[in-house]
Amino acid sequence: MGYVGLPLAVEFAQAGFRVTGIDLNETRVRQLVAGRSYIQDVPTADVRTLVRKGLLSATTDFSVLRRADAVSICVPTPLSKQRDPDVSYIVAAVEQVKRYVHPGMLVILESTTYPGTTDELILPELENTGLKVGQDFFLAFSPERVDPGNAVWRTRNTPKVVGGVTPTCTRMAVELYRQRLEHVVPVSSPQVAEMVKLLENTFRSVNIGLVNELALLCARLRIDVWEVIEAAATKPFGFMPFYPGPGLGGHCIPIDPFYLSWKARASGFEARFIELAGYINGQMPEHVVDLVVRALNQRGLSVRGSKVLVLGMAYKADIDDVRESPSFDIMKSLEDRGARVEYSDPFVPKLGFFGRRMTSTPLTPARMRRFDCAVIATAHKSFPYGQIVRYSKSVVDTRNALKGRRSPKIVRL
Ligand SMILES: NC(=O)c1ccc[n+]([C@@H]2O[C@H](COP(=O)([O-])OP(=O)(O)OC[C@H]3O[C@@H](n4cnc5c(N)ncnc54)[C@H](O)[C@@H]3O)[C@@H](O)[C@H]2O)c1
Repeated sequence: MGYVGLPLAVEFAQAGFRVTGIDLNETRVRQLVAGRSYIQDVPTADVRTLVRKGLLSATTDFSVLRRADAVSICVPTPLSKQRDPDVSYIVAAVEQVKRYVHPGMLVILESTTYPGTTDELILPELENTGLKVGQDFFLAFSPERVDPGNAVWRTRNTPKVVGGVTPTCTRMAVELYRQRLEHVVPVSSPQVAEMVKLLENTFRSVNIGLVNELALLCARLRIDVWEVIEAAATKPFGFMPFYPGPGLGGHCIPIDPFYLSWKARASGFEARFIELAGYINGQMPEHVVDLVVRALNQRGLSVRGSKVLVLGMAYKADIDDVRESPSFDIMKSLEDRGARVEYSDPFVPKLGFFGRRMTSTPLTPARMRRFDCAVIATAHKSFPYGQIVRYSKSVVDTRNALKGRRSPKIVRL
């Protein structure tokens, strides 16, 4: 019942299904039972109404699966320390589903994962019960495409790709989603559906990597990369703008391509584009630190002992998700070099930073004046950009948030 599960549960409940959210996180379950949303894109009013109507409930008890006609698995799929897929959450969830799978049940995996997971990891487990796929129970993969903070493309109107293990499995899953979602796109197998999601996210990672490399080159050639992209984007065909930045963040783009390159390696294939994009994107936080060094240097200051304010901890604008955010790497690297670092983010009032609790610094003129450098890492709309330039001694802008503003204080990516 996270960023993916809760919005989906709400959609199904709004279609009139009686939906039970299962989560190991008791706090989340308690909040849902009390009718409260903890996901920014899901209004508490919606959750409250559905809970009151008896259409949405939540529990930590998997035995509710005994009576469920369908189950969507939306658990995390992170990387291990060695940057290999960590499918342990899927395995744990499937273990529970296996205990309660029954004739007629539809099981759909929504978590992003490598091609083959549904067929190789889930199917044998469920068939071990003696039930037969396509006859007794139905199994499909359907990747989630939710884009947190996107007001236009929501769960309901974003086309949903579905691939079942058998044609009947696909039909069953398509029918379920069609009850609420506007467009459902059937494909021939779970592997195709798994690969679709990885293509989408790898496409973003590689293009962001390309444009980050171009940004580094443009800096050398003293060309404004933002102006280049803006002009190139006037081409009405064959071009799509991507923008450089301080590095990748979130649960998807920095992680998912490695699911694909891992699978490629396992089959003796080297996915070079993916690895290269990962490498270039992974260098960006350190490049931002270099820009801070340059900004301080211009004023005769060293990093050691300087005070730096990082603006934006969320990995993208106007959301509260800090997972994999490059702001952490930037702050850590600056601290390692002896800077005193604080952050400001209206969406993230508090956070844990390498074992320490930190709170967001309010952007008052007096506070801003205390820092030797401000780094715009996330372009939240609500940041007072005019004041940031006015009161900061220097500003590193990694997002072109200060577009059109001229000041010798500004160092741009
Ligand atoms: N966040 C996104 O924007 C996004 C978009 C598309 C796809 N995805 C994919 O969807 C999946 C879920 O991502 P998310 O962002 O919703 O994660 P999340 O961390 O927000 O939510 C996952 C939830 O699963 C719960 N959980 C963990 N193990 C469990 C278990 N065994 N049984 C029941 N609940 C369990 C966790 O407590 C948590 O509440 C991932 O594979 C991710 O790659 C995420």
